[in-house]
Amino acid sequence: MTPSTDWSAYGKQIETAKTLADLEQVELAIFGRKQGAMTLAMQQLRDVTPEEKKTLAKELNEQKRTLDESIAAKRKALQTPSASSLANDDAIDPTLELPARERGHLHLIPEFIRQVEETFGRMGFDVAYGPEVEDEEMNFDLLNFPKEHSARDAQDVFYVQKDAPKDNKWLLRAHTSPVQIRYMREHKPPFRMICPGRVYRKDADATHSPMFHQWEGLMIGKDVSLANMKAVMETAVRELIAPDASFRWRTGYFPFVEPGLEMDMRWQGEDRQTREGAWLEIVGCGMVHPNVLKNVGIDPEQWQGFAFGFGVERMLMIKHQIPSIKSFYQGDLRFLRAF
Ligand code: PHE
Repeated sequence: MTPSTDWSAYGKQIETAKTLADLEQVELAIFGRKQGAMTLAMQQLRDVTPEEKKTLAKELNEQKRTLDESIAAKRKALQTPSASSLANDDAIDPTLELPARERGHLHLIPEFIRQVEETFGRMGFDVAYGPEVEDEEMNFDLLNFPKEHSARDAQDVFYVQKDAPKDNKWLLRAHTSPVQIRYMREHKPPFRMICPGRVYRKDADATHSPMFHQWEGLMIGKDVSLANMKAVMETAVRELIAPDASFRWRTGYFPFVEPGLEMDMRWQGEDRQTREGAWLEIVGCGMVHPNVLKNVGIDPEQWQGFAFGFGVERMLMIKHQIPSIKSFYQGDLRFLRAF
């Protein structure tokens, strides 16, 4: 059966095609290489007289062009949003804010530790790490803690049940200060280093957690002074926490520094406490005790320097006004997403 040559009927079919697949059906019916109505009609031109051929060919070519054009136009229309949706003013609103695409990011604590490493890196400080399980010698003795010092109390320190000599038990380090010892044993002064990491103490309330993070700093040289220490620490706090912070220094006691100091800060942040102008204790520090230098084979007559120990969570709680230290560890995405 020869297909219909009612070209205007094909034209209607093109117009009413609802999908690209519909359109392809019509296109095939007209232009299909074997059975297409137009293909066959063109072939029939061979069988007519030259005069007939002239008029017929002209007519067919016109029909062919019209159909070609309407197929192309229809295809374009079906590929773009429909006319009715475009007519609606609200259909495309270029000012509309799309919901933010969720992206993962570092947890607040490792992110801050990276910033600490960068800030101190710019001041020439090396980064070192140490093990979380140490012994009493590393955590206390070499840091000049007297044998009977109260910080050694099992009330405060997690001891590890692992075979050890009676007077040198294994424990979870209570501060990052043992890394000072490790670093000084392995490096010749002068040097500057920080050592971030986890520390453990039997302490739990809104501002204390049995596990928390510190970063210790150590700088040893021929003439490293308290003035250098203040400059380094103030620069770091201004850069990491509050550019407008002011500082106050008080004496403090830590067996491994002499003199020992505590640094307090005050800033204009949103914190209710600080707005009243209260000073916040933030960090212990001081000049490394000559006994500590001797313990690692550094001559205290030739070398001197300072050490400090910041609490990571404490700094973040001040910076972001976080009331409870538990928020850091609960994995509550509503909290973590806020940073
Ligand atoms: N290790 C002390 C602490 O955890 C902090 C400190 C470090 C103090 C270095 C002085 C010098 O409390």
